[in-house]
Amino acid sequence: MPGEYALAVLSRWRSLYQPAMQMVREHCTFPPALAVLLGSGLQLELPAAAEIPYERIPALPAPTVTGHQGVLRILESRRWDRTILLWSGRFHWYEGFPVEVIAAPILISAAVGCSSVLLTNAAGGLNSHFAAGDLMLLLDHLNCFPPIPELAAFSLRRSPYSAEIRRALVQIGLKLEIPFQQGVYVGVSGPNYETPAEVRFYRTIGGDAIGMSTVIEATVAATLGMKVAGCSVITNVLSELPATGVSHTEVVQASALAAPKLGRILQAVCDDHLPIFL
Ligand code: HPA
Repeated sequence: MPGEYALAVLSRWRSLYQPAMQMVREHCTFPPALAVLLGSGLQLELPAAAEIPYERIPALPAPTVTGHQGVLRILESRRWDRTILLWSGRFHWYEGFPVEVIAAPILISAAVGCSSVLLTNAAGGLNSHFAAGDLMLLLDHLNCFPPIPELAAFSLRRSPYSAEIRRALVQIGLKLEIPFQQGVYVGVSGPNYETPAEVRFYRTIGGDAIGMSTVIEATVAATLGMKVAGCSVITNVLSELPATGVSHTEVVQASALAAPKLGRILQAVCDDHLPIFL
């Protein structure tokens, strides 16, 4: 159970998004079950029953980063008569957004009834066995963001990522011949990429992949009692050698190339495996 302070913070945040929740609810024919948050460059071509640009959702800003569309797609799983909320575009700490904006898709999804969330992101590979284009399911994360006072009360103490969903996604991946890596995600504030010495440091402390998101959303979602799954698209492999720079354009392009794999997984979830998220 979240402590009193965390509950007070959550209820203050929730009140900000009351009109947004109302609007999203009105677009859902079926009860919402799962929220999916897409990372940089991940645009999935899944048939949507409705699309709402973020600008039209009360109290939501538009994302400022290229590779993030800023559209909420309402997907329907007719087999299970449930709605999936596909948030195409996220808000990052480095864009200067406060935590309650970064967590808005989570707060809204939870309030309209989603019991689980799949958080995706683009990440650099720290593990030397990873290659660009790999998908990595998150076992846990290392929170390397600067201290965020509001989040101090959101104590997790165990991994927010559901082992049950992870095992099920591995099975779906096997059937579709889409293998998953698994590992620990390091969340940093960005927007700078890592120096070779930092790459060595983040490897040493136990990171397998590193990116600029996900930790805040996972922390809020787990505190709200949602089941959380995380999947990184490894867009680049990081090196401890000097002169191996990374650019946002490269990250967005690599992410777009790997997106169809994630799309197939998500389609299989909607069509055949939604109960793993219920
Ligand atoms: N570092 C941090 N974040 C990232 C990277 C990286 O190399 N690639 C994609 N997101």
